[in-house]
Amino acid sequence: MAGYRRHVFVCLNERDPSDPKGCCKHRGSDEVFKTLKAGAHKAGLADVRINRAGCLDHCAYGPTVVIYPEAVWYRVPSVEAAQEILRSHIIEGKVVDRLLIDNIA
Ligand code: FES
Repeated sequence: MAGYRRHVFVCLNERDPSDPKGCCKHRGSDEVFKTLKAGAHKAGLADVRINRAGCLDHCAYGPTVVIYPEAVWYRVPSVEAAQEILRSHIIEGKVVDRLLIDNIA
């Protein structure tokens, strides 16, 4: 069957520092991506895919991560937050409410 149990997209978009919109890359999205990718690999999650993404249009809240099939949108401000999302949502299927973009927007 095509597809994954969970498909995770991490915004790695980078803008010029003078751009008022800012970008996820300058807020640490590289480390978030590496943490999720390495963590999923270490946990043996062959049915989970962690992908790089361009701008996901939630720039003010970045680093932005979206997880499907639930279509849950997260603000992931630290490596620790990425580890929590990996453990709670990606592995155990429990949404991390405090990191939802909907709860801070
Ligand atoms: S730069 Fe990441 S959501 Fe736009």
